[in-house]
Amino acid sequence: MSTDSKFKYKVCVVGGCGHVGLPLAIMLANRNLKTCIYDINQNSIAKIKEGVLPFYEEGAQPLLESALESGNLDFTTRAEVIGESEIVIVIIGTPVDEHLNPRVDVLRETFMSFSSYISDDQLLILRSTVYPGVTKRVKDWLEEDGHSCDIAFCPERILEGKAVEELTSLPQIVSSFTPSGVERASALFKLLTDDIVVVEPLEAELTKLCTNVWRYIKFAVSNQFYTIANDYDVDFYNIHYAMTHNYPRCKDFPKPGFAAGPCLFKDTMQLGAFYNNNFNLGHTAMLINEGLPNYVCKCLKKEYDLSKMTVGILGMAFKAESDDIRESLSYKVKKLFEFESKLVLCSDPYVKDPAFVSKEELIEKSDIIIIATPHKEYRELQIPVGKKAVDVWNVLGNGGKI
Ligand SMILES: NC(=O)c1ccc[n+]([C@@H]2O[C@H](COP(=O)([O-])OP(=O)(O)OC[C@H]3O[C@@H](n4cnc5c(N)ncnc54)[C@H](O)[C@@H]3O)[C@@H](O)[C@H]2O)c1
Repeated sequence: MSTDSKFKYKVCVVGGCGHVGLPLAIMLANRNLKTCIYDINQNSIAKIKEGVLPFYEEGAQPLLESALESGNLDFTTRAEVIGESEIVIVIIGTPVDEHLNPRVDVLRETFMSFSSYISDDQLLILRSTVYPGVTKRVKDWLEEDGHSCDIAFCPERILEGKAVEELTSLPQIVSSFTPSGVERASALFKLLTDDIVVVEPLEAELTKLCTNVWRYIKFAVSNQFYTIANDYDVDFYNIHYAMTHNYPRCKDFPKPGFAAGPCLFKDTMQLGAFYNNNFNLGHTAMLINEGLPNYVCKCLKKEYDLSKMTVGILGMAFKAESDDIRESLSYKVKKLFEFESKLVLCSDPYVKDPAFVSKEELIEKSDIIIIATPHKEYRELQIPVGKKAVDVWNVLGNGGKI
C-alpha cells in the first residue's frame, strides 16, 4: 500500500489500546504500515510503549515487540493525529445504558469531536460493534459538518484471546457507501486476509449483531436444557454427549456455562432495542443466561443452610484463560452468595486482585466450591470428600449435576 505523502501515518487506530484495537494496530504495523495508536488511556499507552500488553492476548507479545522495533508503531493521546492519518479506524467501546439501550450519544460526541481534523481524502472505518444505522448517521453528521470522506463499516469478529490467529484466518466483512470506500477498505484488510465479504453498511451492522446474538442464544438453549435436566436429577452432560456424539446436526451444540462478557449480552440488547423490544428470543436468552447464577444459588439453598457456610468461587474472568472481568457472571455469583452465605472467597490465576486467595487456600477453607470459569488449570483439581463442588462447565469431568 502506498503512503500518501500528505499524511504522516497510513493508519490511526482510535481506541488502539483496547482488546480489539491493539491486536489490529500491532498486526498492521507488522505489515509495514506506519500506524499510530490514539487512545485516551495514558496508563495503557505507557505500558504498551514499554512492550507490556495491558491484557492477555495469545501470541501478541512477540508481534508487539517486532512492531515497536520496526518503528512503525507510534502512540498518542492527541486527537490531532486523526488529521495526520490517511485511514482512521475507530474501535472504541459501545456500551449500553441503564435501560439496556445503546449509548449512541457517546459515538456522536466522539465523531463530532474528530470532525475538525477530518479531510475529504481520508477513509474513516468504523470497527466497533454498533447499533444498526450508526454508520449512516456518522456519514450524515459529518456531511452536515461539510465532509465527504469515504466511510466504511468493517466489523471485528475475533474471539478475545485469539485475535492474532483470527485476524488472518477469519473472512473480513467490508461495507461502505461509495465504491472507493469499499475498494480502499478491502485493500487494507487484504493485508490480513484474502477472504473479503462485501455487503451494504446496514447489512454489515446486522451481520455483526446477528453473529453474536446467535452465539448468545445457543448458550441460552444449552443452559435451559441444563436446568431442565438438573431439576429432574439427571446429569445434562450425559444428554449432551448423547446428542452430539457422531451426530452431525448437533455438532455445534454448546455446553452449558456462565455465558457472559462485554459483547454477547450487550449486542443482544442492541438488537432488541433496534427491533423495538420485540425480540422475545433475545430477551429470553438474556433471562436464562443471566439467571444461571440465581439457579445455582437456588439449588444450593434447597440443600444447605448457606448462612453457616463458606462459598469459594474459582475463576472470576468471564472466560477461560483470560484476565478480562468485564460483565463476568462470576461477580453476580459472588454478590448472590455474599447475601446468602457466611463468607465468600474468590480466586483466579489471571485476574490480579489483592482480595483474592490462591486456589489451594480457597479449596481448603470453603465448604462449597463453585467453578465459575473453566480455566484449564482447574481440570486437575481434587476436591476433598465432604466438600460440595458445583461444576456447571464440567471442568472436573465428573458431570454437571448440582
Ligand atoms: N472484546 C471483544 O472480544 C470484541 C470482539 C469484537 C468486537 N468488539 C467490539 O469492539 C469494540 C471495542 O471493544 P473492546 O473490547 O476493544 O473495548 P476496550 O474497552 O477494551 O477498548 C476500547 C479502547 O478505546 C479507548 N477509548 C475510549 N474512548 C475513546 C476516545 N474517545 N478516544 C480514543 N480512545 C478511546 C479506551 O481507552 C480503550 O483503550 C466494542 O464495540 C466491542 O463490542 C469487541
